[in-house]
Amino acid sequence: MSVIQVQGLRSLKGEIKIQGSKNAVLPMMAAAVLHKGTTVIHNVPRIQDVFCMLGILEHIGCICCFDGHSLTIDARDLTQAEIPEEYIKSMRSSIMLSGPLLGRTGNAVTSFPGGCSIGERPIDLHLSAFRKLGAIIEEKGDKLMVSANRLMGNHIYFPFPSVGATENALMAAVYAQGITVIHGAAKEPEIITLCEFLNNMGAGIHGTGTSVLIVKGVRELCDSEFTVAGDRIVAGTYLMAVMAAEGEIVIQGIQPGHLASAISLADRMGAELKRYESCLEVSMSGRPDCVDVITEPYPGFPTDLQSQLMAVMASAKGTGRIKETIFEGRFGTAKELHKLGADIIIEGKRADIHGLYPLKGNRVTATDLRGGAALVVAGLACEGVTEIHECHHIERGYEDICRDLSSLGAAIRGME
Ligand code: EPZ
Repeated sequence: MSVIQVQGLRSLKGEIKIQGSKNAVLPMMAAAVLHKGTTVIHNVPRIQDVFCMLGILEHIGCICCFDGHSLTIDARDLTQAEIPEEYIKSMRSSIMLSGPLLGRTGNAVTSFPGGCSIGERPIDLHLSAFRKLGAIIEEKGDKLMVSANRLMGNHIYFPFPSVGATENALMAAVYAQGITVIHGAAKEPEIITLCEFLNNMGAGIHGTGTSVLIVKGVRELCDSEFTVAGDRIVAGTYLMAVMAAEGEIVIQGIQPGHLASAISLADRMGAELKRYESCLEVSMSGRPDCVDVITEPYPGFPTDLQSQLMAVMASAKGTGRIKETIFEGRFGTAKELHKLGADIIIEGKRADIHGLYPLKGNRVTATDLRGGAALVVAGLACEGVTEIHECHHIERGYEDICRDLSSLGAAIRGME
């Protein structure tokens, strides 16, 4: 699907079951490489990034079976420890295979993932964590050769709670001799899931959910089975969608606690919300109010919902300000929202938005995963038809955004 068409100004109504979490499953798939045996993961979303990670796992010798939403990975016989550059370039998060490969084989050959439209995306914190565990890192051309005879437990200090670097450090430390303490670790729900997943495989991780993670090295892991939670960012995207379109929906299959900052923001903007153990009821009548918000590491407002929030505020009441503190390039979607008539002024890390309703449908282009989803959200509040191009970005993280939103009454369709 390369183009999505949205006929705006239709309210949403109904119930939606949220797919499994992309940002939890990708590190879990990488972690399966640590074990010379079989790992089963349930509720895996059928999205492009998962298929890409599957391709890499098979390239290095894993035998994978992806049946429905259940994934079996047999990592008994790895054939190599090199992540091909084309994979790294097409999906940055394949860098998180370097930690498990280093932990399992003592080697990992990777390359600098490079930046993307949302930011420069360096990996210095990943590499410094590997060095702290005793790895040697050599650059040969654009390849990174990471090696260690025996990884030794140590103290790792992160000056910023990087999600990916925390994940890579955790996985590399699983077999390290002695104790590793990761200070300043990220606390996102996906990190908690990874700790639980690794311990379910037989790892020795303590401090789950805190910023100090303690890893007691073990000698081997065991076959395991795990079910991943719903995707909090997909759920947050649909929360934003009902605020833009108005109506009332039930979002099933998530832990509302993982979305607390987005829920309290929606409440401030005028939505009515009811939280249950594994679902969230949201209703929005009339235009939401613009607010001021800053993106922060968890439990702050997530950068992955910033573009979608901007789309809501573009068609809301009043004026608001968004400050993006995580990714320097994450305001890229504003210029596409301008094509819909949005009144947004970007100045460095700050976006000032004056809400106008309705916006006007037009042809726009997705430039990244969450920015593409934001354009769909904006289309719901546009008069006429909005046509979103380059929708392959959206397919990286959403199983079928057209299926989901049309099941809630949106007039939306995908076209090749
Ligand atoms: C993960 O990316 C997510 N991706 C991102 O989601 C998410 O936006 C991000 O965490 C923040 O929550 C996956 O989980 C696959 P970071 P990651 O390392 O690990 C700087 C989506 O839309 N940094 O926490 O790359 C970096 O430049 C994606 O699903 C360094 O300086 O995020 C950025 O400014 C987009 N050096 C900040 O930290 C490093 O070595 C946050 O990056 C690593 C990161």
